[in-house]
Amino acid sequence: MAQIIDGKKISAEIKEELKEQVAQLKKDGIEGTLAVIQVGDDPASSVYVRNKKKACEYIGIGSKSYELPETTTQTELLDLIADLNQDDAVNGILVQLPVPAHIDEKTIINAISPAKDVDGFHPESVGALTIGQKGFVSCTPAGIIELLKRSNVEIDGKNCVIIGRSNIVGKPMALLMLRENATVTITHSHTQNLKEICSRADILIAAVGKKEFITGEYIKENAVVIDVGIHRDENNKLSGDVKYDEAEPKASMITPVPGGVGPMTIAMLMHNCVEAMIR
Ligand code: GUN
Repeated sequence: MAQIIDGKKISAEIKEELKEQVAQLKKDGIEGTLAVIQVGDDPASSVYVRNKKKACEYIGIGSKSYELPETTTQTELLDLIADLNQDDAVNGILVQLPVPAHIDEKTIINAISPAKDVDGFHPESVGALTIGQKGFVSCTPAGIIELLKRSNVEIDGKNCVIIGRSNIVGKPMALLMLRENATVTITHSHTQNLKEICSRADILIAAVGKKEFITGEYIKENAVVIDVGIHRDENNKLSGDVKYDEAEPKASMITPVPGGVGPMTIAMLMHNCVEAMIR
C-alpha cells in the first residue's frame, strides 16, 4: 500500500509559512500586490482566478483584479501590462491562460516584466532556470519539488521519467529534477516503448492530459507516482492521468486527484509573490 502524498496538507503548511513571512515583511514596511488579469469568462479560468485572489487575501497580500471582456484587443491588453509593469505598487502580474484566440499568448507572456513574472513563463525566467540562475519558476513543477522534498523522497541519482513536454509543466519539471541530480527522461506523444521506459522510473511524473492513461503496467514496484492531470467526468467526479486503483498497490508513494498536485500550484504562486516582494 502506498503512502499518500497529501498536497492539501503540504500546501496549507506552505501558505501558513508565507503568511508569517508576509506579516514580518509588513512590519518592515514592505507590502505586496498581485495583479490578476482574465480576458473573457471561461468558467474554469474564473474558478482559478477566484482561488488565486482568495489565497492572496489569506496570506496577506493585496490583489488587483482585471476582468476584461472577450473582445479586448491585444493592444489593449499590452497597454494594461505596460501600465502594471511601471506601477511600483504591483509586484506580480499574472495573465490567466488561455487567452482568446485573437490574442497571441507568446506576445503577452513576453510583455510581462521578468521582475514581476510570478508565473515563471517569461523566456528570461525559463532561461534562468535552464542555466541555474535565480528567477521565478513555473508554479506546478515547483510545487511538485516541494511535495517530494517535504515527503522526504530522495531525488539525487534517481531515475525520473516525465510524461509530457509542455512549457508550463514537462520542460521546467525536467530542469528542476536535473537540478536535484536526478537522471531525467522526458517522454511525449512520439515516444516509442513508453510503457517500458515508464516502468523503469523511480519517480514517475504524469502530465499527459489524458484521463487514467497511466495504468498499473507503467509503474515500477515501489515507484513514487506524481499525477499532474485533472479530469472531470459527467458526474463531476475528478480523476487524474494515472489509473489510481492500479497504481496505488504498486507505488511506494502517490499523489491523489484531487488533493495532490493541484493545491500546490497556488501555494507556489503565493511563494513567488512573496519572492517578488522581497526582490
Ligand atoms: N492556466 C492554467 N494554468 C495556469 C497557470 O499556472 N497560470 C496562468 N497564468 N494560467 C494558467
